[in-house]
Amino acid sequence: MQLNPIEQSFAVNFKYSLHFTSGLFESNNDLFMKVIRSYKPNEKVKLLFVIDDGVLKNHPELSEGIKEYCLLHNNQLQYTECLVTPGGEKSKNNYDNVDRIIAAINDNAICRHSFVVAVGGGAVIDMAGFAASIAHRGVKLIRIPTTVLSQNDAAIGVKNGINAYNKKNFIGTFAAPYAILNDSKFLTSLEQRDWIAGVAEAIKVALIKDADFYNTIKENAIRLKERDMDAMLNTIYRCAEMHMEHIARGGDPFESGSSRPLDFGHWSAHKLEQMSNYSLRHGEAVAKGIALDLTYARFKGLISVEILDEILEMMTEIGFDLSIPVSGDKEIHELLKGIQEFREHLGGELTITLINGIGKKLDVHHIDMEIMKNALNFLNNKYKINVA
Ligand SMILES: NC(=O)c1ccc[n+]([C@@H]2O[C@H](COP(=O)([O-])OP(=O)(O)OC[C@H]3O[C@@H](n4cnc5c(N)ncnc54)[C@H](O)[C@@H]3O)[C@@H](O)[C@H]2O)c1
Ligand SMILES: [Zn+2]
Repeated sequence: MQLNPIEQSFAVNFKYSLHFTSGLFESNNDLFMKVIRSYKPNEKVKLLFVIDDGVLKNHPELSEGIKEYCLLHNNQLQYTECLVTPGGEKSKNNYDNVDRIIAAINDNAICRHSFVVAVGGGAVIDMAGFAASIAHRGVKLIRIPTTVLSQNDAAIGVKNGINAYNKKNFIGTFAAPYAILNDSKFLTSLEQRDWIAGVAEAIKVALIKDADFYNTIKENAIRLKERDMDAMLNTIYRCAEMHMEHIARGGDPFESGSSRPLDFGHWSAHKLEQMSNYSLRHGEAVAKGIALDLTYARFKGLISVEILDEILEMMTEIGFDLSIPVSGDKEIHELLKGIQEFREHLGGELTITLINGIGKKLDVHHIDMEIMKNALNFLNNKYKINVA
């Protein structure tokens, strides 16, 4: 008997929004209420909050504030629990953190019509988003990112994940959030390194796509370093907008192709984070990765020495250390393995995004290892790191 294949094809529309506010859980702020109401206008919605312990340490009133806010609006919001979870990369390095959230989803009978509300830096947002996306095959998620990097990049896309086998984001899902709520008040308590780190993602997206945005960042370099909130909010806004545009209109939201242009500078960044045992922040590593790939692009004749110098100077002015913390053949070899691991993560042909001008991305499919080593040595000589 000959059975013909049954063809299947359908499209699903993904829709979510990013909101900006200050003091999200203050009693007179109705944004959170409105977002929940947009889902179910006349019904109570169950909420499980997951909070980064680093955020709570700096905002000790937060969990009580959330509870009071939910009580105030108890016709609509059904508070269950504030689960506190370790902040920073350690949240992605231990599966127990995922398990605790899944257990809390079970204990509190969170269903697909309820919400997990993740409050924290990019690491907690990635990890909690992953847990929410696998419980019941996906419960709804609201992200409340609390660092610059999570507000302009990590929390606004469709990727969730944790690290495994010494590889960043080895386990994860593509799952869109219901909404993202950026509260600028959280940014005031960031350590200087976390205030700066997220700017690396803005520089990245500007360099590959938008020369005007690059010029704005360059003009604002000192204001950004000196914690000017308006300069930072403008940078976050444009960076987030460009990331969201790319996901919606770049033609490959779930990365089925071989190219990942938003990961300019990231093959080495991910490897450096792992090699530093995550003492480097993601944004700090991205700044180094951008500097390395820009220097490589210079050595390959893709950009001029003037452009390279200008970008490196701007990045150091903002406060980035652009040395590459590897020394000796063994470590350099390990770092360069990042190129292959980057290819494996995505599959298909090796595709590394470089630039051949400000705002102009260029995909290449081969990296000359000797030239890449020269680029690394150049940066470490320039920024005074001794690479034996
Ligand atoms: N899913 C994605 O598309 C995507 C994109 C980019 C980055 N990421 C991931 O994001 C992570 C990096 O995120 P990050 O840069 O936000 O760092 P992070 O989440 O590691 O947080 C850094 C530190 O800041 C603390 N913190 C968070 N908010 C704070 C606040 N308001 N005040 C004081 N301290 C606060 C945390 O507790 C932590 O100790 C990496 O794991 C990276 O891989 C994911
Ligand atoms: Zn990144």
